[in-house]
Amino acid sequence: MKSIIIYGSHYGTTKSYAEELSKITNIEAISFENVKEINNYDQIIYLGGLYAGGVLGMSKTLNKLNNILNKKIIIVTVGLSDTEDNENINNIRNNISKQLKKSIFEKVKIFHLRGGIDYTKLKFLHKTMMKLLYNAIKNLPEEKKTAEDRAMIDTYNKKVSFVDFSNLSYIVSQIQN
Ligand SMILES: Cc1cc2nc3c(=O)[nH]c(=O)nc-3n(C[C@H](O)[C@H](O)[C@H](O)COP(=O)(O)O)c2cc1C
Repeated sequence: MKSIIIYGSHYGTTKSYAEELSKITNIEAISFENVKEINNYDQIIYLGGLYAGGVLGMSKTLNKLNNILNKKIIIVTVGLSDTEDNENINNIRNNISKQLKKSIFEKVKIFHLRGGIDYTKLKFLHKTMMKLLYNAIKNLPEEKKTAEDRAMIDTYNKKVSFVDFSNLSYIVSQIQN
């Protein structure tokens, strides 16, 4: 089976998960920007950072698949918000369903990991987006805050990492299954 790990990462947390996964599985990992022909692979593992609900590079990459009949496709999201929170997971999956062709979405297995953030490293546009978002949600009543809101407020203007490679083991077993 010909496999590839593809990642979409602005600040490196998703890339670090992809590279660790590559080390464990011996499958090559490349950035979505460098993917030439995706249709050559039988198994595609896509890891993407979450940006305003979107999975970085995912739709651009996976929607180029023509025939998915015999393909195995795994998507791994990397975000700040709590991956144990069901509402958060439902929101992420719902967003993914809107970003992929229906035939592809029906076929994918989706997993979730936590990344990190370092505000001193953010590009101006991202810093501005986070400031606007923070100001919009900081005064919401506690019961109205989603897991995403809470993660954003708790980490605002900080350097935080939730990266934990031990959480890759279940994904490794899915790849090798
Ligand atoms: C502009 C911006 C938007 C973000 N949107 C989300 C989001 O919708 N959900 C989430 O869980 N995390 C969100 N994050 C946090 C990133 O997903 C997190 O920092 C992740 O580890 C980034 O991956 P990377 O380091 O590979 O780029 C956002 C971060 C930034 C800077």
